[in-house]
Amino acid sequence: MTHTPAPIDAALLHPVAREQDRSVTLPARAYTAPDVLEWEQRVFFEGSWVCAGRATDLPNPQDQRAIRVGSQGIVLVRGDDGVLRGFFNACRHRGHELLPCDFPTVSARVIQCPYHAWTYGLDGTLKGAPRFSDVAGFDKQDYPLIPARIEEWHGWVFVNASGDAPPLAEHVGNLDGLLANYEIGRMFEAARHDYVVRANWKTITENYHECYHCPSIHPELCEVTPTDSGRNYEHTGAWVGGDMDLKDFAQTMSLDGQSKGLPIRGLDDYQLRTVLYVGLLPNMLISLHPDYVMTHRMEPLSPTETRVECAWLFPPEAETRPDFEPSYASDFWDITNRQDWAACESVTRGIASQGFRQGPFSWSEDEVHQFMAMIARSYLTGEIAVVAGTHGRGAAVGS
Ligand code: FES
Ligand SMILES: [Fe+2]
Repeated sequence: MTHTPAPIDAALLHPVAREQDRSVTLPARAYTAPDVLEWEQRVFFEGSWVCAGRATDLPNPQDQRAIRVGSQGIVLVRGDDGVLRGFFNACRHRGHELLPCDFPTVSARVIQCPYHAWTYGLDGTLKGAPRFSDVAGFDKQDYPLIPARIEEWHGWVFVNASGDAPPLAEHVGNLDGLLANYEIGRMFEAARHDYVVRANWKTITENYHECYHCPSIHPELCEVTPTDSGRNYEHTGAWVGGDMDLKDFAQTMSLDGQSKGLPIRGLDDYQLRTVLYVGLLPNMLISLHPDYVMTHRMEPLSPTETRVECAWLFPPEAETRPDFEPSYASDFWDITNRQDWAACESVTRGIASQGFRQGPFSWSEDEVHQFMAMIARSYLTGEIAVVAGTHGRGAAVGS
């Protein structure tokens, strides 16, 4: 496979990949140019592993839904055997989509194309093609749906549309071990918010990776976490992340620092007193709290517009608490999310200004630097360029 660099002047990218104190932020085209987003869709989204939601979005045999991965539509189907499968969302007759993308899960014994009613089994085999019985040489066996590569990880479904990405285990690297104690596979989703943010998807990720902005825009967050407490994780795989402490009085991230859930079983003392913030390329942010897990799942709609699904997952025991109510977590983060979106939208407008120039990093932004350096190296090489280790000078936390 040939690797094509992104359509951005390499002279503007080399400085981004330097050591942090001699580095600069990404150039404007990375956030504004449609051809850069097309390249990102191909290399970062279709060429890699995109989180497509929870496996429990399709809990029962015969459940079906279509999602978008880069420029590709993918149908997810749970078979009568209970196995979740993926197929490209294109009928083998004349290409009509089998299901509209982003609609809720439906349930049916077959997958039926809405155009001329070809029907497929849940394993993708063509079962019915009306008025083809008199077409010489036509054999239904020749027209199964084209399978798409999917894997499940900690209860999430991941899709690799290109089919040739390295194994998911390699993509996530040592993040798998970092998540182990949380047992996310057994969690249930208790709240979900959908946003459309008028910002580039990378701006949202970059904003997530620093708390330098917290004293300026997050008064509620500053009540429960010391904003200068972060440490980075040493990583293998296509992710960056770090932790932040909770203030002594706070049990978790909520408006009053109190939890209305229960501590996640199996967490160690360190995990019960910290929040872990992890960004997994390309579309997933995972925030691990002592009592719940929050995820942001991003889908770029244009260079300057991103759909964000924010979900809150809880361990099953939480529901045994009579006053359990997920809004203590989702209200807190909805306020914080909206503060972040306003900042990201302003940054997006500023980057479009003729007065925008690539800027420097503070030491509080070392994860942003790691992320941008990973993006810049990927732009230059034409493939996801994972660089192991931390780059900042903050204390690193092994996993
Ligand atoms: S395009 Fe699907 S049945 Fe014709
Ligand atoms: Fe923020």
